[in-house]
Amino acid sequence: MTGIMDGKAFAAELRGRVATAVSHLESSHGLIPGLAVVLVGEDPASEVYVRNKGKQTVEVGMASFEHRLSDQTTERELLVLIDQLNSDPTVHGILVQLPLPAQINSHAVINAIDPDKDVDGFHLINVGRLTTGESGLVPCTPLGCMMLLRAYAGDLSGQNAVIVGRSNIVGKPMAALLLAAHCTVTVAHSRTKDLTDVCRQADILIAAVGRAEMIQGDWIKPGATVIDVGINRIDGENGKKRLVGDVEFASASAVAGAITPVPGGVGPMTIACLLRNTVQAACAVNGIDFTLE
Ligand code: GUN
Repeated sequence: MTGIMDGKAFAAELRGRVATAVSHLESSHGLIPGLAVVLVGEDPASEVYVRNKGKQTVEVGMASFEHRLSDQTTERELLVLIDQLNSDPTVHGILVQLPLPAQINSHAVINAIDPDKDVDGFHLINVGRLTTGESGLVPCTPLGCMMLLRAYAGDLSGQNAVIVGRSNIVGKPMAALLLAAHCTVTVAHSRTKDLTDVCRQADILIAAVGRAEMIQGDWIKPGATVIDVGINRIDGENGKKRLVGDVEFASASAVAGAITPVPGGVGPMTIACLLRNTVQAACAVNGIDFTLE
C-alpha cells in the first residue's frame, strides 16, 4: 500500500520543536532569534509566501522583521539595506524573496548577505560548505525533503536517487545532500535523453521541474519513494484554479511505495526549515550548541 508522506503534520511537529528551542534560548541565554524577510515588488505569489513566513516566525516566538520595497528599487538601495541587516545584532537570518525585479542582479544581492545569516543557504560560501561536507546553512526546500526521506524511507545508503530539475534552489543542493547520504545520484533535466527510463531506475525520485503533472505513474519504479517539489496552479473545474505538483498524483500513488501530496507535502516543510535555520544561525553566532533534525 502506498504511504502518503504527510508534510503538513511533519512541518507542524518541526515548528513545535523550533518553538521549544526558541523558548529555551530566551530563558537560558536571553536570546531571541530574529528573521528579516525582504520583498521587492508586488508579485502576488511572493506576497503570500512572505506573509506566511512572518506569521509563522512570530508563532514560534521569534522576532520578525519585514522590509517591503517598491518594484523600482535599485540594486544599490537593496545592497544598502542588506548591509544594515548584516550589522544588526537582533537579525540572525536574512531572506531576500526571489525572483527580484529585472534591474537587480540576484547573485550580487545573495552574495552580499553575511553567509552566517544566509538562512536560504544560497550564498557561494554556503554552497561550497554543502558540496564539501562542511557544516553551514542548507537551502530550506532540499533540507525539508531530506527530513521527509529520512522519516519515511529509512536508510538511504546505496539507493538510486534521481532528481528531475537542476535549479540552484532545489536540484543542485538536493544532489549534494543525497550524495552525502550515500545515494547514487542522477540529476536529470530538460535535455536528458530517455527521461522516462532514467526515472524508472529511481528508488528515490525527486520531481523539481515546475511542469504540472509531467511525471506519470508508468515512469515510477514500483515501491519507489517519490518527493514532489512542484507547485503549479492549473485550471480546475468551475473555472477555479487548482494546485498540482510535477507528478500526476492519481497514477503515481498507485505505483509508489511512498509519495508526497501537493498541497500538504514538501511546501509546508520549506517554511518550517527556514525557522529551523534561523535558530541554527542564532545559536552559531552566539557559540551555543544546536541540533534540530
Ligand atoms: N522563491 C521561491 N523559493 C524561494 C526560496 O526558497 N527562497 C527565496 N529567498 N525565494 C524563493
